Amino acid sequence: MKILFVASEGLPYSKTGGLADVVEGLPKALVEMGHQVAVLLPRYHGNRVTSTLVSSVTVSLGDQVRFPSIAEGVSVAGVRYFFVDDPGYFDREQPYGDKSGEYPDNAERFTEFSRVAIEFAKRVLLPDVIHCHDWQTALVPVLLRTQHADDPAVRSLPVVLTIHNLAYQGMFPQSALRKAGLPAQLFAMDALEFYGRINFLKGGLLFADYLSTVSRRYAKEIQTPEYGAGLEGVIVQRADRLVGILNGVDYSIWSPETDTLIAQNYSAPNLDGKKACKKDLLNAFKLPADKLEDLERPVVGIVSRFADQKGFDLIAQVAGEMMKEDLSFVVLGTGQVEYERLFKLLAEKYPRSVGVKIGYDNPLAHKIEAGADMFLMPSRYEPCGLNQIYSLRYGTVPVVRATGGLDDTVQNFDAKTQQGTGFKFDAYDGNALLDSLRRALKVYREPKLWRALQKNGMAKDFSWKTSAAAYVTLYEAAKRSRIPRVVGTSKH
Ligand code: ADP
Ligand code: GLC
Repeated sequence: MKILFVASEGLPYSKTGGLADVVEGLPKALVEMGHQVAVLLPRYHGNRVTSTLVSSVTVSLGDQVRFPSIAEGVSVAGVRYFFVDDPGYFDREQPYGDKSGEYPDNAERFTEFSRVAIEFAKRVLLPDVIHCHDWQTALVPVLLRTQHADDPAVRSLPVVLTIHNLAYQGMFPQSALRKAGLPAQLFAMDALEFYGRINFLKGGLLFADYLSTVSRRYAKEIQTPEYGAGLEGVIVQRADRLVGILNGVDYSIWSPETDTLIAQNYSAPNLDGKKACKKDLLNAFKLPADKLEDLERPVVGIVSRFADQKGFDLIAQVAGEMMKEDLSFVVLGTGQVEYERLFKLLAEKYPRSVGVKIGYDNPLAHKIEAGADMFLMPSRYEPCGLNQIYSLRYGTVPVVRATGGLDDTVQNFDAKTQQGTGFKFDAYDGNALLDSLRRALKVYREPKLWRALQKNGMAKDFSWKTSAAAYVTLYEAAKRSRIPRVVGTSKH
């Protein structure tokens, strides 16, 4: 099958979060299965291209006409990479915004990107299916089924939309519709209108042939008001076309056996190297690491975007109690200032046990996965979550809130049966977090049990294989859904 990924970020070219890991790993796995995959991305600052394929695509955006080009980049692992190149829109340090907030022209930027994606399919490479991701590309299905509905080149092209995070919807004032060059009729309840504004993701949810999200539990959760972010009604309406497919992990990048970014490699049968990684991690955060007791003290790690989603207000609630425990705490992340402030204050207050690095740092993320004993993810909601899956492979025990993909990938450890891979709590409450952290610390003090727990996690296999096969099934269903019915054989 020929599959075209259209996404706003993807490694090795751009990344702000897990979407980029998925847009790297899934195409690679599909290629390994024998499919042909092309990935179309915006060309951000620093993205190198090898050739220009279409020097100018005419895109009307309300009053302005723009002329982005289409370029090709270096292929990686058999996956071809293409770019929509419009420096005025995309040659920026960050994909979506900067310290002063979201870019004010995001509606136009991602409308243009989505429009060029369709032109790409027409002029460069006609796929069997288009796979879009999140609100930034949600206009692709809208455009295909409205303005391009009679376009012979693409009218039967199936399109799948994956929801990586339902809370980010691409909401804009009504005027964005005209700026996007979309017909006024789309300002309707059964289209893009959402409480007087327009909502790109809503459009994608309504017009895509099939929808997926990144864990089974999240697929159920988003049909409820608690997790539906106002779109639960739309999701319920399309529930027969929605599947939950868990994200996979690229173990060629995230494995303690082969990771080149950590102090020493190790594996389940011999975890000795993990001690060296722990020492290296403590050194990286300038925490005490010389005495045996320093190395025996458990290290709890966090690597995260600092966003409300991630549940750091729970840590704020119980930080004092948490730091009474004999543990070290290392945090890497960047985002909302209130959480940056929270962690900086903790580091000032507990300089010998809390280490904080504000920023984005991939090598340090690997060091934390390898060197920490526990990995904390108290998310309010988590569509899938990748770090807890990486942690499992590194023998770093996840302590998580039982939501979305966290619930699907971590099993509570039972000391009696020695089954389970981590510690989970249900209530969105600081004391519940503290409780499961204390359960983890108790098991940590029994090295034999801890070792069994680590090994359970390390033995889990979340590679892309199974999930990529599930996507192929989905693509096939999407294809079938677009086969025109012969007139007279159906009432529809
Ligand atoms: P989300 O996409 O919601 O941020 P995921 O757990 O799916 O959450 O993915 C986050 C990805 O981004 C992981 O690969 C993680 O290692 C990485 N990451 C997040 N924050 C940082 C950071 N500050 N430095 C380095 N990597 C980070
Ligand atoms: C989103 C979600 C995260 C998920 C990632 C990749 O950023 O917040 O849970 O793992 O997308 O699907």
